[in-house]
Amino acid sequence: MTDLKRILLFFRSSLFILLADWLDFKSKKKKRRGICSSKILWIRRFSGFFFAAMLMIILSPSLHSFPPAEAIKSSHLDSYLRLPSYQASHSSKDRFSFRKASGFRNADECGFTDRKITGVCDPSLVHVAITLDVVYLRGSIAAVHSILQHSLCPENIFFHFIVSDADLETLVRSTIPQLKFKVYYFDPEIVRNLISSSVRQALEQPLNYARNYLADLLEPCVRRVIYLDSDLVVVDDITKLWITNLGSRTIGAPEYCHANFTNYFTGGFWSDQRFSRTFKGRKPCYFNTGVMVIDLVKWRRVGYTKRIERWMQIQKRYRIYELGSLPPFLLVFAGRVAPIEHRWNQHGLGGDNVKGSCRELHPGPVSLLHWSGSGKPWLRLDSNRPCPLDALWAPYDLYGHPH
Ligand SMILES: *[C@@H]1O[C@H](CO)[C@@H](O)[C@H](O)[C@H]1NC(C)=O
Repeated sequence: MTDLKRILLFFRSSLFILLADWLDFKSKKKKRRGICSSKILWIRRFSGFFFAAMLMIILSPSLHSFPPAEAIKSSHLDSYLRLPSYQASHSSKDRFSFRKASGFRNADECGFTDRKITGVCDPSLVHVAITLDVVYLRGSIAAVHSILQHSLCPENIFFHFIVSDADLETLVRSTIPQLKFKVYYFDPEIVRNLISSSVRQALEQPLNYARNYLADLLEPCVRRVIYLDSDLVVVDDITKLWITNLGSRTIGAPEYCHANFTNYFTGGFWSDQRFSRTFKGRKPCYFNTGVMVIDLVKWRRVGYTKRIERWMQIQKRYRIYELGSLPPFLLVFAGRVAPIEHRWNQHGLGGDNVKGSCRELHPGPVSLLHWSGSGKPWLRLDSNRPCPLDALWAPYDLYGHPH
């Protein structure tokens, strides 16, 4: 019964989005340029919608069994089923409404006040990459806001936003006018054929896989980047994370060696020497891919994107894991990760997949709070059933009209 209700809700929300898109499309009709492509996009979205709807109906009973919470970025599905009402607005101009963030400036200690930062290639910049999509927009904006608020030198931070659907550049510009950023388009087709056709993965967003392609997407002059998920806030100066010593490693992340690593892969994987020998001579530990410091120079040189893609192709044929974008990272990097203090990823705050479950912080200091798992603070706050720690996310939320 609740399934049926959810499906109906999904239909209704999707229709609203379609309607909004259609109106948007009509208003653009006067401009001759780009009309063809927007028409095609519209048709593509329409067929995508039907495909998703069919899948929903066919697969809805099997959607109850989600894998462990901290292992997945998020269950996009859950968010789709409860699309926030702001997406239902008919005019794309009021589709999202965010308050303007307060201004920010560098402290005197930053030392660059008399020297203008020249552009994305300026060597004094701290680079942060985050995805932007309509479902997680509120989370992404809160993450950016939190980073700025806790930085001694916020003007030195450059944001690289990866998008696949809506044009969100204007919205970012009007919400945080001073922000230094660039928007990159990630073509979902790049991963469409690599995402396995299993229940969960069919429903996963291609944008979830954009982190595999940062080395290709970002400007070649960007040598290092901090990748962050959209469901977190930073409560410390991100520069401390930026200057992490990676040693000879390509990526840095907090590692969790107490987690049972066996469970991230299937029995078939472990029993097939061709696959399991990849971990020979390594001491692999679980790490969360929602917070990573990446040396893009090394990544490009070795060609890690291809290695990840190769594992995704193997997954398509042999089904060696159950999760989405995480296992290929474990296959390539586990045991070869520069360890970062756990304070930089207090993950799992989204709770597990049991509705209404709240998590507590892990012991120790906290520099970053991560609501990985299916519960998102903005959804819980909106439904008046927040977890205690959601109060730590709320101050960075810019969504809504001023009170
Ligand atoms: C890890 O999990 C596997 C499979 O569930 C189990 O066989 C193994 O004993 C576990 N290892 C530890 C150290 O708990």
